[in-house]
Amino acid sequence: MKTPAKITTAAIAVVVCGAIQGAALNVIPAPNSIVEKEGVFTGNIAEAISYEMDGAIPEEGYRLVVETNSLKVAYSTEAGKFYAMQTLAQLRSQEGVPCVEIVDAPRFKWRGVHWDDCRHFMGKEALLKTLDAMALNKLNVLHWHLTEDQGWRIEIKKYPRLTEVGSIRPGSPLPVVLKDPSCQTYWQNNNIPYGPFYYTQEDIKEVIAYATARHITIIPEIELPGHALAAISAYPQLGCTGEQFDPWWHWGVSEHIFCGGNDDTIKFLEDVLDEVCELFPGPIVHIGGDEAPKKAWKSCPKCQARIKELGLEGEEGLQGWMTDHFTKYLASKGKRAVGWDEILDGNPGKDTIVMSWRGPGGGINAAKRGNDAVMTPIDPCYLDQVQGIADDPYEYINYGLVITLERCYGFNPTAGIPEEEQAHILGGQGNNWTEYSWNPSEYEWKLWPRMCALAECLWTNLENKDWPDFKRRAAVMRSRLIRERHINCAPIE
Ligand code: ACM
Ligand code: ZN
Repeated sequence: MKTPAKITTAAIAVVVCGAIQGAALNVIPAPNSIVEKEGVFTGNIAEAISYEMDGAIPEEGYRLVVETNSLKVAYSTEAGKFYAMQTLAQLRSQEGVPCVEIVDAPRFKWRGVHWDDCRHFMGKEALLKTLDAMALNKLNVLHWHLTEDQGWRIEIKKYPRLTEVGSIRPGSPLPVVLKDPSCQTYWQNNNIPYGPFYYTQEDIKEVIAYATARHITIIPEIELPGHALAAISAYPQLGCTGEQFDPWWHWGVSEHIFCGGNDDTIKFLEDVLDEVCELFPGPIVHIGGDEAPKKAWKSCPKCQARIKELGLEGEEGLQGWMTDHFTKYLASKGKRAVGWDEILDGNPGKDTIVMSWRGPGGGINAAKRGNDAVMTPIDPCYLDQVQGIADDPYEYINYGLVITLERCYGFNPTAGIPEEEQAHILGGQGNNWTEYSWNPSEYEWKLWPRMCALAECLWTNLENKDWPDFKRRAAVMRSRLIRERHINCAPIE
């Protein structure tokens, strides 16, 4: 009997016997095809399992056949084999593994989680736990936000002050309940130095190895030209004015950005990217591009001279030139650039990937002009927003939106994209910024289980999605993440 993944539990009871009836449907993300059979495998999995390469199976896809006396896995890539094992881990219970035939492959190839270590440093232990949780949910990209106005978090050997100076800020905002809009203490400094917090290159190699073993690609982000105050604090000559600053103790967007007219600043960024490209084996590097105020550039003789010399269209043209320069620089090292959707203002090259965050519009426009895009619109992909659960103890950014689990589950990265352009949509990701997450426990609470919902949107074909059934499975996954990974998960209401 052929049944779609969204078969109901009631229907399953007909074909799956005993105490684990319906267990196949505990899998997140929902597999794209399930045939339930009678019987349960109760033997030794390690002894009974066999593997087979099958070139006809799509990349990252797999076939898993469980019978009462055997388990067979077929795949065409190691990632596919790995995902078959993730499914098996979720099928398995104390009673055994239900007999089943699953044929599965992801809807999208970019299934990401964005991780911000800059505003609050979450650290290696929390990150490794999250990589485990990602693997279980078949998420395969970690977008690692490493540089900001409030802190520089990656060791660069050529420029030691980036971490000696740039990873320490002179305080943080006093925690306050933002739910009280009259509260002003948020803009008071607690005057407690924050840092030094950063990853050494050895730490980063360890994280990369851990991720690689779980078929997760890490995409490092070096923000340019904006969100650069921590770097400018370490090396004031990188900015337009040469002024000395501290990394910001408070949140927001600094007007002091990398000087686009200074050849030494360009060389500095190339040097940083050299070390980043050497360190990270993945094929893509994120070069930021969002929220770069142009005030300092307007009055900077070097920036203005570059605009004039190259005939650029003002300051936006200068940012476009920088994006183009570093995209080509990365290409010369065999890497592809991704940038936030503001880079579209600068007419990026066709190989540049656009990350659509201010809404779906950036991704829609990118696909129209022939660029690949990753969809991560604030609604519903920004997980630092209120999640609409009762008595939530934590603080959130307030965009006036409530991004519930169900709202996340409604995410469709290709909505609004004509069919012939949909191949440009590589996938999507959940973004979790850390201004309002003081520690990993709060951060995890915001990620999970909403990230499970986004994971299913990125893996499971639209026709196989089913909100009530997802909600049931999400409760099982939530218990697993708490029990096995000690991850703090929000309740499912
Ligand atoms: C962003 O949220 N500024 C990309
Ligand atoms: Zn300048």
